[in-house]
Amino acid sequence: MIEQLILGGEPSPFDLPKGCYGLTVTEVQHYTDSLFRFRITRPKEFRFRSGEFVMIGLPNTEKPVFRAYSVASPSWDEELEFYSIKVPDGPLTEHLQKIQPGDTILMRKKSTGTLVNDALLPGKRVWMFSTGTGLAPFASLIRDPETYEKFETIVLVHGCRTAAELKYGEDLVASLRDDPLIGEMVDGHLFHYTSVTREDFPRQGRVTDLISSGKLFDDLGLQRMGPEEDRAMICGSMAMLRDTKQLCIEHGMTEGANNKPGEFVVERAFVD
Ligand code: A2P
Repeated sequence: MIEQLILGGEPSPFDLPKGCYGLTVTEVQHYTDSLFRFRITRPKEFRFRSGEFVMIGLPNTEKPVFRAYSVASPSWDEELEFYSIKVPDGPLTEHLQKIQPGDTILMRKKSTGTLVNDALLPGKRVWMFSTGTGLAPFASLIRDPETYEKFETIVLVHGCRTAAELKYGEDLVASLRDDPLIGEMVDGHLFHYTSVTREDFPRQGRVTDLISSGKLFDDLGLQRMGPEEDRAMICGSMAMLRDTKQLCIEHGMTEGANNKPGEFVVERAFVD
């Protein structure tokens, strides 16, 4: 943790707000005009469950704007990773997209969220349905050995507008196959299913349409999901959550929560 807050490589005139960590940016990678990922230092005492989110902000004003961000790195990682959209004139992301290594990120001390393994009943397969930056919590969960201990098959479904927006997920899954800790567990157990809606791509269509037509299941050679063996986690825009949740219900599944594990769980990809 740091005393002097830095922004744009310069000391910030503002104090660390109460109840926050001041953490240092270690890496930034831009994917498209609207997507990037960054990594920050992790306080030794900070614990979270893979799939949870935290509130983050910048030391650029007396009263910083905080937004919920899913931690994209797994709970065992020494650093914290985030995957973010860049919204023009977005109160936080307008500034956040300009961060550089050495800058300070403010992070509130508590994590929370429902996209955690504990909120799902045991099952055979887990479907991770995501669109856009809704991928982030799953980037954490697919790197956590606990997910592979709990489920035999993990299907990461990611829908985006363009193929360029799939890159973060593609790179991540490719790197897992070579990872000494996860590599063996992933092999034959993790399936990555991608689709694009606004340009030519081998697989096209909204995640929801691929579920309702059954194409998703046919392509993977898996039976249609149902309450006995399948579990689902959903993260995307409000409209995507509503529609995907409805499909889970139509497939006979019941929503769960931390205090009452169920067959599927839902969380909004928050940031604006
Ligand atoms: P589409 O191009 O048909 O709008 P966004 O960036 O707006 O969150 O969209 C990310 C992806 O999610 C896009 O491929 C988009 O498709 C898709 N999408 C938008 N709304 C829904 C929905 N209600 N159900 C499923 N997918 C959706």
